[in-house]
Amino acid sequence: MLSCAVVRSATRSSSISASLALRGRASPLRFPAPSGQHGDLLPNTHSGQKRFISVYGYTQSKALVYSRYGEPKDVLRLHKHSISPPHGTQVTLRLLAAPLNPADVNQIQGVYPSKPPFQTTLGTEEPSAVAGNEGAFEVIATGSNVKNLAKGDWVVMKQTGQGTWRTHAQLDESQLIKIESKEGLSPLQVSTVSVNPVTAYRMIKDFCDWDWMRAGEEWLIQNGANSGVGRAAIQLAREWGIKTLNVVRERKTPEQTDALKKELYELGANAVVTEAELLSGEFKNMVNEITRQGKEPIRLALNCVGGKSATALAKTLAPGSHLVTYGAMSKQPVALPSGLLIFKNLVFDGFWVSKWGDKHPELKENTINDVLELTRTGKFKDIPVEYIKWTWETEGSELAAGVQETLSGFRKGKGLLKYEGDE
Ligand SMILES: NC(=O)c1ccc[n+]([C@@H]2O[C@H](COP(=O)([O-])OP(=O)(O)OC[C@H]3O[C@@H](n4cnc5c(N)ncnc54)[C@H](OP(=O)(O)O)[C@@H]3O)[C@@H](O)[C@H]2O)c1
Repeated sequence: MLSCAVVRSATRSSSISASLALRGRASPLRFPAPSGQHGDLLPNTHSGQKRFISVYGYTQSKALVYSRYGEPKDVLRLHKHSISPPHGTQVTLRLLAAPLNPADVNQIQGVYPSKPPFQTTLGTEEPSAVAGNEGAFEVIATGSNVKNLAKGDWVVMKQTGQGTWRTHAQLDESQLIKIESKEGLSPLQVSTVSVNPVTAYRMIKDFCDWDWMRAGEEWLIQNGANSGVGRAAIQLAREWGIKTLNVVRERKTPEQTDALKKELYELGANAVVTEAELLSGEFKNMVNEITRQGKEPIRLALNCVGGKSATALAKTLAPGSHLVTYGAMSKQPVALPSGLLIFKNLVFDGFWVSKWGDKHPELKENTINDVLELTRTGKFKDIPVEYIKWTWETEGSELAAGVQETLSGFRKGKGLLKYEGDE
């Protein structure tokens, strides 16, 4: 359901301003570049490191690819190849940062509905796909017909499934979203904006007709509240005058659980409870107290987990409300008591940002811009991350080991590949 919701903040329209700085750049040499045959490494006189641009203008790149499905540590490998100088509307990019999201791993395992095709376009021995769906890149060269991008601009990919875990890439300008004004933004912020925050934003805006006259008197409830999506939901809801009741899993010690709760309160959460509390007989009373005996209705539930957790969220909802499932971290099915459908007329939806973004490209861009504006003004905080430094010398096995950690629970932060190589 994508009803036109009453919302508390207008969606800002954005346009891509024409940056003509590098227009008219002549396209350099154009001849086929068999993998690894161009772009000999030259000494970089500034840093003593190796340079990756050859005398012929070819860019050396490494990509984390897989040619069969399986666990990341078993199937991911680093593939080195050359990228020819861009021509026409092509743009050559250098990676700044790319997150390791659960869906990326599911995709590598072959259990995700969207599967990038295995191809030999990068010169791999076997048909392969580049892993990764999200990331921030810097433009390092543009073809002569590129209109809106110039060297130094930051971009994100318009669609998922393009393969972001690579040091360099070459895409058509039409496949990229330019980050208008990168000032005040970090690679971390830009690289993580297009999946999780967009998911949270759209679920809150599109699945509930919030009564804006009652700002501060309506609630949403969510599990997985410390996830990237959950943290985004807390902050967006706070901006829009919606209260949040957040569920997290207990940590090993009460102190660690309290520390996690504190993190979410600092983002603007109104209440944070544990899964154990959610599933306890006491929870109904807790909700009554939190919502002033239902005078402040819970009108939306965001389900990242499934199983009993999802059922418990649904039971708190006011009649006619929606529960939106976007994740299945427990791998348990969502079980729904019939009474919730018959007597409370609850609506159960699913949301998939990839599909939504393909259908609504302009709205996706506007949504990204809205979140980045909140980020610039300090109203949208960075997610906790564990950096995985990627230099030209980094071994594929090191990167694959980092990726393998992604689905392990109770993490301190999301894995983030940070490329620190030369152009
Ligand atoms: N449908 C969409 O369009 C869409 C978009 C974005 C994300 N997602 C999905 O949303 C979910 C969260 O993604 P993210 O990137 O925000 O995640 P994230 O930042 O990597 O965080 C993972 C979250 O999952 C929780 N978790 C992990 N294992 C769990 C388990 N066995 N049972 C319950 N909770 C568990 C973690 O809780 P602990 O800290 O307690 O381990 C944490 O809250 C994923 O399933 C992802 O695929 C869907």
